[in-house]
Amino acid sequence: MEHPGKDLAAAASARRYMRYVAVLAALAGLMFGLDVGVISGAQQFIQRTFAIDDRMIEHIVSSMMVGAAVGAGLAAWLSGHFGRKRSLLWSASLFVAGSLASAAAGSPVALIGARLVLGVAIGIAAFTAPLYLAEIAPEDKRGAMISTYQLMITIGIFLAFVSDTVFSYSGRWRWMLGIIAVPGIAFLLGVLGLPESPRWLVLRGRHDDATGVLNRLRGDETTARAEVAEIEERLRTPQQGWQLLRENRNFRRSVGLGIALQVVQQLTGINIVMYYAPRIFADMGYATGTQMLFTAVVGLTNVLATFIAIGFVDRIGRKPILYAGFVVMAVGLAVVGTLMASGMATQGQRLLAVAMLLVFVIGFAFSAGPLVWTLCSEIQPLKGRDFGIGVSTVTNWLGTAAVGATFLTLLNHLGHAQTFWLYAAFNASFLLFTWAFVPETKGVSLEAIERRLMDGRALREIGE
Ligand code: BGC
Repeated sequence: MEHPGKDLAAAASARRYMRYVAVLAALAGLMFGLDVGVISGAQQFIQRTFAIDDRMIEHIVSSMMVGAAVGAGLAAWLSGHFGRKRSLLWSASLFVAGSLASAAAGSPVALIGARLVLGVAIGIAAFTAPLYLAEIAPEDKRGAMISTYQLMITIGIFLAFVSDTVFSYSGRWRWMLGIIAVPGIAFLLGVLGLPESPRWLVLRGRHDDATGVLNRLRGDETTARAEVAEIEERLRTPQQGWQLLRENRNFRRSVGLGIALQVVQQLTGINIVMYYAPRIFADMGYATGTQMLFTAVVGLTNVLATFIAIGFVDRIGRKPILYAGFVVMAVGLAVVGTLMASGMATQGQRLLAVAMLLVFVIGFAFSAGPLVWTLCSEIQPLKGRDFGIGVSTVTNWLGTAAVGATFLTLLNHLGHAQTFWLYAAFNASFLLFTWAFVPETKGVSLEAIERRLMDGRALREIGE
């Protein structure tokens, strides 16, 4: 007979191991965020060092996003072929290499090249980490673990803003870009100690290895065996991509919705703030020190408001939160635009503009930020899930690239007020989009969503 004390010890050690694995995988989110945040504070110093115009800065900013779109596309294949763990290792190594190369870049073109590499790293991580987390998490912790990953992204952005602020006093942009290699190395070493995903091992026919990993994660052989059996059962539905897309109109609709949701998320304009905040504050008339301080406040606000979503998304539902978010974002940006049009002569007007930009960030962080990712993972039918999520992740980065590559041009050609009004109008129009196309998926099982989609029901009716 088994000793009960031994069971307890095994359960405790399994919990510790699970926590280690979860924290590590969430660190991939931190890398994602560091990468997003780091360039905003470095831009003006890079611009001075290389004496380049706004157009070149846009290329430097957006090259990372183009790399990420490529990386996300590659990741579906990489993680299927070589496993989730090896994909994460690739991602971490490229991240370290890319950070060091961007710190050492001798020319704008070299910097663009280094940021492309960094982007590929983040694209791979953005696809693989949530997939890995979902595959190792016990059923009742899955939502929480993916939300933690989202939260880590915002924390990463915030930390990058803080580090940018610290280095901005000396103008050391190479340090800003290079320092993120340190958490990158920690991530790389940590990933070496991660187990391979049990689902992938089963996929490869390595059932004993999968049982071994699950045994360590759950601390109980019976549960481990039951889970392996369940995974086998689910894998009887083989993953299909292009073929399903060609043959099935309903799958084309869910893939289309995933693409649209990510386009909408980017056209809210969140990344004009995440990538260009100091520039926006400079244009409002603030000095360098204040610009960086406000940028750090933007980062912190983004982190804190994400908790609102985590707290309410399963209670209030997706659609009401999205409606509220788009209203708040539209109003925030419209007021910023109007203040910009007024020339912001008084201190009060300038502070109001900062406050309204923060209101906009709050509106995003409690709604479209986390919810678009949630919805994208809920609406795809099982046999096309990897493909569907892959396509929407690639779209996220292409959208980010389009926004990042055009913002300064819009400012310079359309004008400040008009640029903010344009994004305000986008947000207002997304109220209509939400009403017409977005399903309410709160509390509905993924199987029920899939059934309604495949029955040909209107997209907005595949949830409740
Ligand atoms: C978006 C990113 C954005 C981040 C800001 C994410 O949900 O996909 O593009 O930079 O939120 O917190």
